[in-house]
Amino acid sequence: MTKLLLGQLVVFGDTPQDLTHETRGAIVIGDDGRILWRGPLPLLPRAFDLTPREDYGLSLLMAGFIDPHIHFPQYRMLAAAATDLLDWLTRYTWPEEALYADAEHAAKAADIFLSRLFKNGTTSAMAFCSSHKVGAEALFEAALKNNMALITGKTLMDRNAIAAVQDTVEQGALETLSLHEAYHNKDRLRHAVSPRFAITSTEAQLKSAGELLQLCKGALMQTHISESKSEIEWIKTLFPNDRDYTAVYEHFGLVTDHSLFAHGVHLSESEAQRLHDAGSTVVHCPTSNNFLGSGLMSMNHLLKDNRPVSLGLATDIGGGTSFSMLQTLGETYKVQMLSGRKLKATELFHMATLGNAKRLRIDDETGSLAIGKFADIVVLDPSATDVLAARHPLSNSIEDVLFALAILGDDRAVQATYVAGKKVHGV
Ligand code: GUN
Ligand code: ZN
Repeated sequence: MTKLLLGQLVVFGDTPQDLTHETRGAIVIGDDGRILWRGPLPLLPRAFDLTPREDYGLSLLMAGFIDPHIHFPQYRMLAAAATDLLDWLTRYTWPEEALYADAEHAAKAADIFLSRLFKNGTTSAMAFCSSHKVGAEALFEAALKNNMALITGKTLMDRNAIAAVQDTVEQGALETLSLHEAYHNKDRLRHAVSPRFAITSTEAQLKSAGELLQLCKGALMQTHISESKSEIEWIKTLFPNDRDYTAVYEHFGLVTDHSLFAHGVHLSESEAQRLHDAGSTVVHCPTSNNFLGSGLMSMNHLLKDNRPVSLGLATDIGGGTSFSMLQTLGETYKVQMLSGRKLKATELFHMATLGNAKRLRIDDETGSLAIGKFADIVVLDPSATDVLAARHPLSNSIEDVLFALAILGDDRAVQATYVAGKKVHGV
């Protein structure tokens, strides 16, 4: 049924500067879950006069957040104290991910995982699963039920972990192909070939991953790169003939314009240049980098004018410490302040919505409130908490309202979330 949402409209165009704000705006959502009309309420066509409506008053209606790097089987293992990434993976992550060999556990977890995203205003994501095919199937099925744009795959990992989370080259390839066949482009789902990282895949499996990326037409590729110092040292001993970490992935045809590399904290000038040349994306995961002590990723470095690397912003749950993209924006702001770049609120929100949608190649259907896209919408209350309510009257621009939400907001500011026009969170 066609419906109307009323509130303050915050609409981004192609760039962060292209921001339209309507204090009293309306969005019309069609039967098919897509945006039929939006604009100032006084200009609402008479044909919608009797359309059922939800009035959110002074709350902001915006494009839902998109999280381009998050681990589904880590949804409950936040705040696992470790000395660094490798210690964290060994002590906490492998045992937790081993539970996802059980289809029943995975199905229950998938519903909880998606409800966490919706509660935080996240309407699309690219997620890692465990290495178990049933875990990836559970997440695909849960997303399908919600008509959500979600990208995932089974993790390829055939060494340097416990047996319960490892696969083999053959099994990994067969299961990846079968998931591609079953789910890629099924409604709003997409598939990503997902080698965990070069430490947990043998050369044979990395070679297979490159071949799978060719075979799985239209699939993205997700992995991790250059996150922590000790990880990079281990890579050097595993791949002594490659000149750096990026070269390992280049060697196997994994550095492409469909490739997303999480973290990229310690990339060299040459690596940044080659990632730029290939059109690959680096996904910044600030709460995770801070929590695990991985390092400060510098946007000034990655975004150098002569070779800007395409960038995404993500939570990286469970290395990350919050499901909230608002908190992730706040942490991004602080990390970049420490690296000498002062980001504007419009840049932060644009990255978390249309920017991430472009990185995931789903911007034709989501990431903004353009007419014809799916109604993936977050409703943000700029006075949701005592602290935000006290701060709000001091704002004299929509940019400053957004800034306060990025620095002070979290799931409490998310009043409602819509996926393809259906309310998935909120009263
Ligand atoms: N590198 C390889 N696997 C992981 C993971 O699960 N989390 C993070 N933060 N880094 C990784
Ligand atoms: Zn990760």
